Amino acid sequence: MSATPLLELRGIDKSFGPVQVLRDVAFAAHPGEVTALVGDNGAGKSTLVKCISGIYPADSGEFLFDGRPVTINSPRDASALGIEVVYQDLALCDNLDIVQNMFLGREKRSGIVLDEPTMEQMAAETLAGLSVRTVKSLRQHVSSLSGGQRQTVAIAKAVLWNSRLVILDEPTAALGVAQTAQVLELVRRLADNGLAVVLISHNMNDVFAVSDRIAALYLGQMVAQVKTTDITHSQVVELITAGRSGNLGLVAEPALSTTGSGAESADTNPGAVR
Ligand SMILES: Nc1ncnc2c1ncn2[C@@H]1O[C@H](COP(=O)(O)OP(=O)(O)O)[C@@H](O)[C@H]1O
Ligand SMILES: [Mg+2]
Repeated sequence: MSATPLLELRGIDKSFGPVQVLRDVAFAAHPGEVTALVGDNGAGKSTLVKCISGIYPADSGEFLFDGRPVTINSPRDASALGIEVVYQDLALCDNLDIVQNMFLGREKRSGIVLDEPTMEQMAAETLAGLSVRTVKSLRQHVSSLSGGQRQTVAIAKAVLWNSRLVILDEPTAALGVAQTAQVLELVRRLADNGLAVVLISHNMNDVFAVSDRIAALYLGQMVAQVKTTDITHSQVVELITAGRSGNLGLVAEPALSTTGSGAESADTNPGAVR
């Protein structure tokens, strides 16, 4: 879509002690597009997201935002740039209502009291802006919401802060068919509203339904970043499980043995160990 990515990473390395989890990773996310980040368990997806969101500093590499070099050393740096992450475990508080959850830790105040009318209005506008109609009352406790509604609230919370890049970690993993469709529609709408969206997913149907590009991580290396229209389901599965598919991905035989397990394997690969 647009020529300059909103976020571009080059040469990212990240180790935990002796374990190299990310190796020379390049990655780009474009405004108005959904980029699917795929890879087997242990490939390094969550670690890459944590580097982008400032939770783990990368050991080396460059970050460009809007084409300009930036440093992201803390979650605060990431939010200042407009980077928000919706984590797998959602981090919503069951005993709080929707508005309270959306403003948790960033409450609006009027003097020393909470500015409830403003927060409620901003929450309502954000949900309306995302065409969310499934939530009955903004004052209902999150515990009373369905999985899909909870995901919706978590996403709305992420876009409330003039965010420009939203990263979603497996947003449909725990959802049924109808709720998955709703959440994917919402993911598409975020991109259509001009945001850069990164979707981590194991589900090939979701990836092909909603993404514009696919980035595949294999044992800590980025083995392909291609337009979704230029690749097939089975090629993506090969990239995930073997690190290459035809002329895509790793050119040489990987130096380290692989688990050879499928994408659904519960085993975790130890990354590029040693
Ligand atoms: N804090 C950590 N300390 C040590 N190793 C870690 C840490 N976080 C992740 N790893 C390792 O890094 C590798 C990649 O993990 P992760 O990024 O969670 O993969 P994914 O999200 O693709 O499943 C795994 O081998 C995992 O055990
Ligand atoms: Mg993960």
